[in-house]
Amino acid sequence: MSAAPATATTPTAAARRRIGVGVIGFGWLGQAHSRSLQRIRTLFPERGFDPELVVCSDTVAARVDDAVTSFGFARGAQDWRRVIDDPDVEVVYVAAPNMLHVELVEAAAEAGKHVFCEKPVGGTPEQTVRADKAARAAGVITGVGYNYRWAPLVQYARRLIADGRLGEITNYRGRFFSMYGSDPLGVLSWRFLVDQAGHGVTTDLMSHSVDLAHMLLGPITRVVGTTETFIPERPLPGAGGTHYGRGTAGDPTGAVTNEDYAGMLCQFASGARGVFEASRSIVGPESQNAFEVYGTKGALAWNLEKLNELQVYLAEDGLDTGYRTVFGGDRFPYHGNFVPGSANAIGFEDLVVIEDYEFCRSVAEGREHRPGFGDALAWVSVQAALLRSSESGRWEDVVSLREE
Ligand SMILES: NC(=O)c1ccc[n+]([C@@H]2O[C@H](COP(=O)([O-])OP(=O)(O)OC[C@H]3O[C@@H](n4cnc5c(N)ncnc54)[C@H](O)[C@@H]3O)[C@@H](O)[C@H]2O)c1
Repeated sequence: MSAAPATATTPTAAARRRIGVGVIGFGWLGQAHSRSLQRIRTLFPERGFDPELVVCSDTVAARVDDAVTSFGFARGAQDWRRVIDDPDVEVVYVAAPNMLHVELVEAAAEAGKHVFCEKPVGGTPEQTVRADKAARAAGVITGVGYNYRWAPLVQYARRLIADGRLGEITNYRGRFFSMYGSDPLGVLSWRFLVDQAGHGVTTDLMSHSVDLAHMLLGPITRVVGTTETFIPERPLPGAGGTHYGRGTAGDPTGAVTNEDYAGMLCQFASGARGVFEASRSIVGPESQNAFEVYGTKGALAWNLEKLNELQVYLAEDGLDTGYRTVFGGDRFPYHGNFVPGSANAIGFEDLVVIEDYEFCRSVAEGREHRPGFGDALAWVSVQAALLRSSESGRWEDVVSLREE
């Protein structure tokens, strides 16, 4: 039974609109979205649509086979054009390596399909600009995989800030520290190669951190930053090797061609100051996508490693003040669709389900979706300034890269 059971007002099957979905790239996130789209049916009785898995494409034949025989796609193909060309596909999910995004997005948009693209939408700022332009020219609805926005307690943090409970925000600390590249024997998967991933940790991890800050505090106007590659060589992977694979000492190696680390100091349009760091080669923090917000009347802190907890300090509590732990629960948006009560935890992939539910809802209702390619563009405009600063050693203004 879903935590939010069907009621007399639940739309009937006949009233629900079918949304045909095609998925390109059937690795970690392609599979996560495919599972999530199926789970929407049993977790969201209030939905006005039914996602249907039509066709999946991956260059690895075994993954295509799995998509059809285990996940229930009607069809599979190694050539991604079969997804775009399929008349039963209304929405294309792009979950292939970053440097392929723009070609896939342009083809989908040209064919009039709505597009959900995994972050960061292209591997370089130039590619994100192209993808955004193509989607706007075609008038299709876009979504981007900034899934951490949908954590119920992140949404609660947003409300506390918007309602002024923290007072005026003075400073913000965002970081995404992941250990996926900390072992020098971690294989040289596509993420470490500029021609397949585009930029490194700025594209892969800092994009998430700054996207959260954009949602919580608004735009960033100028930055100064630095980047570094700490592990310059890695063992070559076998076919289909991911960034969690390991080689062995003595394996042939290749050069890492994008950055492992980025640090950035910045100023928000509101006047608040911020500091951001991202690393994939750090030892210690395992998946620390975290932020701390400080205001004149309070503060809060959230960390993906403890997704179901928010630390809140409110000066209005007077003598009893101090950080307290707010646990996730069904009083926060969508938590109750997964589990009832309080402090019964939800997980990473549940955020993907919420994200896919919200995107399909926008498609079903024919309206603009957030976060969409405009939000992806907001990040790459900051990224471009950071990369310029890393070269110049100076503060750089953030200039919107949006092209008409
Ligand atoms: N939002 C998140 O939290 C999150 C997490 C991980 C990855 N991502 C994003 O998702 C995307 C995919 O990352 P991943 O970790 O799933 O990678 P992955 O390596 O696990 O999967 C990528 C898949 O794409 C396939 N592929 C490669 N070339 C292809 C082509 N021409 N046509 C069809 N398929 C092709 C590969 O065979 C592989 O199965 C990236 O853009 C990444 O940034 C987002």
